[in-house]
This record gives sequence, structure tokens and C-alpha cells, in this order.
Amino acid sequence: MSGSGKSTIAIELEKQLYSKGYHCYLLDGDNVRAGLNRNLGFSDEDRSENIRRISEMSKLFVDAGVICINAFVSPTKEIRQMAKDIIGENDFIEIYVNTPLEVCEARDVKGLYQKARAGEIKNFTGIDAPYEAPDTPEIELKTVDQSIESACKLIIKHLLN
Ligand code: ADX
Repeated sequence: MSGSGKSTIAIELEKQLYSKGYHCYLLDGDNVRAGLNRNLGFSDEDRSENIRRISEMSKLFVDAGVICINAFVSPTKEIRQMAKDIIGENDFIEIYVNTPLEVCEARDVKGLYQKARAGEIKNFTGIDAPYEAPDTPEIELKTVDQSIESACKLIIKHLLN
């Protein structure tokens, strides 16, 4: 969810992989929604199209031999399954950044939860739009009792295996 810490973890992961000599690239809502997907909003249809384009783009990065880190809400099982189908099971690792809604909302880094509660933003994930947690993610990170560094270590260990 927004405020879960996915971008912070992704940025640190990119740094750590880069320092180990791995070629990687980070895609997240900020860089993708500002450009390629700037014509998309947050309806179910637009979120699905958002993830479809990102998945196709990630597949190209993977084809080029680049580790592609994706930090997106991707709120439904159906959307994540689509991503897995496009990218291919062997190249897709699902990471669930499991941060309770109350914590995301208390952090409210961008002030968006306050706006969503006030009704100024509609279809906000976790408030008036659904978030379906994955049942069997390959990696689950609990940001409340886990540091960013240890979260990244866990991901890198999984990747190297
Ligand atoms: S997704 O649902 O389509 O996968 P994406 O990860 O691209 O979402 O974008 C989510 C980011 O957009 C959030 O972290 C938040 O900063 C911002 N945002 C703006 N409006 C919304 C909204 N209605 N629901 C969720 N996030 C929103």
C-alpha cells in the first residue's frame, strides 16, 4: 500500500545490488506514472493497464539481462497474476511488503491518506478501494519489526539462491 515502505526498500535494494556489481533498474509509481503511464488514473481498469504496461516493460529489461525491481501497489491477485503471466514464472519474484494500514496511515508521508479520508481523493487503496494481500508471496517483509537493511538482505539472499 501507499506508505508501506516499498519505494524505500526498492531504492536501498538497487544500491546494494549495484554495489555488488549487478545491473538493475528500478521502476515505481513516481517514474512510470509521471511519463509512460501519465494518461492513467486509479480506476480498476487503469490500474490493470498500468501494471500490464509495466510488466511488458519489465520483460524487456529482463530480456536485456537487467534485474528489474518493481515497486507498485498492484492491489489485486488478478493484477499480480497478469504480471506473472507476462513476465514468466521463472523470472518473477513476488515480494509482499506487509505493513498494516494503520501504520501506513500514521506515516502518511505524502498526506494522501488524510485527503482520502476527507473524500478529496477517490478510489484510494486501503480506504475506499480494495487491497488483496497475496496468499503465497515468495518473500514477505514486515516493515514494522524489520529494518530496511535486513529486508534487502533477505531479498538478495533469495535472488542469489
Ligand atoms: S497501482 O494500484 O496502479 O499499482 P501505483 O503503484 O502505480 O498503483 O501508484 C500508487 C501510488 O500513487 C501511491 O503510492 C500514491 O503515492 C499514489 N496515489 C495517488 N492516488 C492514489 C489512489 N487513489 N490509490 C492508490 N495510490 C494513489
